[in-house]
Amino acid sequence: MNAAPTSPPNPPGPSSSPSVSASLGVSVVGLGTMGLRRLTALRRLGSARLDLVYDVDAGRCREAAARFGCRAAGSLAELVGSPGTELVFVCTPNAHHEDSVRSALEAGKHAFCEKPLALDAAGAGRIVESARAHRRTVRVGANLRQFPQVRKATELITTGAIGRLRIFRGWIGHDGSKLRSEWYRHPEVSGGGTMIDNGVHLLDLAHSWMGPATDADARTMEFASSRLEDYVTADFATREGGIVQVVSSWVERSGYFYLEVHGELGFLLVDGRSSATLTWGGSDADAPRVFDYSGEPRDSWDREVSDHVERIRLGGRGRPDAEDGRAVLEMVDAAYRSARLGRRVPIETGARRS
Ligand SMILES: NC(=O)c1ccc[n+]([C@@H]2O[C@H](COP(=O)([O-])OP(=O)(O)OC[C@H]3O[C@@H](n4cnc5c(N)ncnc54)[C@H](O)[C@@H]3O)[C@@H](O)[C@H]2O)c1
Repeated sequence: MNAAPTSPPNPPGPSSSPSVSASLGVSVVGLGTMGLRRLTALRRLGSARLDLVYDVDAGRCREAAARFGCRAAGSLAELVGSPGTELVFVCTPNAHHEDSVRSALEAGKHAFCEKPLALDAAGAGRIVESARAHRRTVRVGANLRQFPQVRKATELITTGAIGRLRIFRGWIGHDGSKLRSEWYRHPEVSGGGTMIDNGVHLLDLAHSWMGPATDADARTMEFASSRLEDYVTADFATREGGIVQVVSSWVERSGYFYLEVHGELGFLLVDGRSSATLTWGGSDADAPRVFDYSGEPRDSWDREVSDHVERIRLGGRGRPDAEDGRAVLEMVDAAYRSARLGRRVPIETGARRS
């Protein structure tokens, strides 16, 4: 048996969800790279109605409102208080996620938050509590889940094609040139270096496929940077007896990610370097099967946005949710603590998923 995947495909929404509306009122906070990317995806959807945008940079706010045909808010409070908004996309730097998401929840709105959910697991825990108290949903941005080779891997894992998972081993990263905004290099705003930036994508997959981790052993390196780790290697034990090994990097010379998952009945090689392929092998003598998605459009952000708008419009919810986001940050916190202390550390978990 597999460890029960922590992300069922279509979980039900909260009982107080509004009835189905023809189009969902959506607003966006933070109008940099990701905010504009989400707005572009939202504009293509017939099922979303853009209401307000907000950015601390008023010029950016006016520009985005004009470009996307919606209204510019003068404050976060005005945006979350708008009766025309049901779902708020939070696309600010990491340090502002918690405040923005909790403001949306307190105003009775659902939230979609870019990864990482907060600066640390404690912040994510406060979001979990707020979502419960206000009976609203939170989804964390995890567009790697939408890559075609990753979607195929999830399908094979959840249908038991490779049996109980034992090993997850992967790396992810880039050469640092994607860090276009200065805030990424300030720990008080980012929460950390490459682990909380890129590593979280792999930790999210590992947690979703293999369940919660119990302890961590990590090393970090400041290779080209003087303030933050730009290379980290971490391994985790899972509650189900599996091993997760992750390398995250801002000094990677080529490609974006590569990972392997080994189960009791077979293995998957998920390649996101120069190609987009999924290789599925069994423990029998059959030749591995290769699924090649290299010619497919790079539409992971669009897919994620349309999937989520549709779920919320129909009164559902999406994963990873706030509890998943907290579990990932518990892994990140433990990795940083382990690197600091120079030893393996237990993962303190606040999980209470029923
Ligand atoms: N899923 C992914 O693959 C992915 C990729 C890149 C970034 N991200 C995440 O998206 C988020 C945004 O990253 P980015 O690269 O777009 O950043 P960015 O610097 O390009 O944009 C951030 C925007 O937020 C605005 N802002 C800052 N503080 C604010 C506040 N308190 N309220 C409102 N607006 C505020 C800034 O003026 C800026 O316009 C980060 O959390 C990052 O980790 C996710």
